[in-house]
Amino acid sequence: MKILITGSLGQLGSELAPALMKRYGENNVVLTDIKSIEEKPQSEQGLFFQLDCRDSQKLFEIVSKEKITRIYHLAALLSAVAESRPQEAWDININGLYSILEVARVHGCSVFTPSSIAAFGPNTPKDYTPQDTIQQPTSMYGVTKVAGELLCNYYFHKYGVDTRGVRYPGIISNVTMPGGGTTDYAVEIYYEAIKKKRYTCFLGGDTYLDMIYMPDAIKAAIDLMEANPAKLRHRNAFNVSAMSFSPEDLSAYIRKYIPQFEISYNIDPVRQALANSWPNMLEDYAARVEWGWDPEYDIDAMTSDMLEVLKNRGA
Ligand SMILES: NC(=O)c1ccc[n+]([C@@H]2O[C@H](COP(=O)([O-])OP(=O)(O)OC[C@H]3O[C@@H](n4cnc5c(N)ncnc54)[C@H](O)[C@@H]3O)[C@@H](O)[C@H]2O)c1
Repeated sequence: MKILITGSLGQLGSELAPALMKRYGENNVVLTDIKSIEEKPQSEQGLFFQLDCRDSQKLFEIVSKEKITRIYHLAALLSAVAESRPQEAWDININGLYSILEVARVHGCSVFTPSSIAAFGPNTPKDYTPQDTIQQPTSMYGVTKVAGELLCNYYFHKYGVDTRGVRYPGIISNVTMPGGGTTDYAVEIYYEAIKKKRYTCFLGGDTYLDMIYMPDAIKAAIDLMEANPAKLRHRNAFNVSAMSFSPEDLSAYIRKYIPQFEISYNIDPVRQALANSWPNMLEDYAARVEWGWDPEYDIDAMTSDMLEVLKNRGA
């Protein structure tokens, strides 16, 4: 097994990379990102190439030279950034994925591509959103995620490329700050709770969204790629759910550990509109049955862990 990660310096990549190195060996994981190595967190080791995932020629050279057999394709523009630069978001999220799928087709690599809760839209059932349902997103990010899910399915059915993926909820982590998503508040709030004991939230207090703690997000990415292919009926874009909460709910849990904590609101209309168009909570039965998805962290366990880690680090 020799793995290549695109977008490895982002929020997910900077924690998935060390987890993959631990599991498969440091020399078996090759890191790439459009950013340069200087921006790589010190916790990461290993071989690194600066690579724009749309640069097919360089991608083919690296995959061939390093004898890559599996690709974790994490490079993307996230929801709020994509809404501010929609043309670039289409180019990176779609043409980047296309070049990854082409190199995978030619070199026989398996591919993990994350989709998102943003692949749903205002016409989708909001509660217990089914695995297979209406997908009519109204954001450029969501449009690229639906198109990406379909493209990955196409490469599997047409060419037999082993494509797999999950629809991640908002990912909460304590290592790398998020890259411009709508659920970023749920990371920022912990840092501000420790530093200032108050936080001004850009989403309304009763905005419910699905969230997942990073250790579970990593578990999903590894477990799905190791799952028995004979059991996978869906392959791409499995709903995965771990918890659903609003900013008011999260504040109440933070107050359990920091009683003085206060939240106020200054709503960002762009991100609020994105959040309003997404589900409150996904139903993830297919992931549980087809490859054993079973998250470890709920909102209380995550809050306790986040606050302890950040306090110990002096954040
Ligand atoms: N973080 C979340 O809450 C979340 C939720 C759902 C889905 N996802 C998906 O997970 C994946 C990883 O997200 P993340 O949170 O790590 O995002 P991020 O923004 O933190 O990181 C993305 C990385 O991709 C790199 N990148 C951007 N354009 C590139 C290009 N053209 N070529 C190569 N690299 C490029 C960036 O430099 C960055 O390091 C994305 O597909 C995202 O849509 C994330």
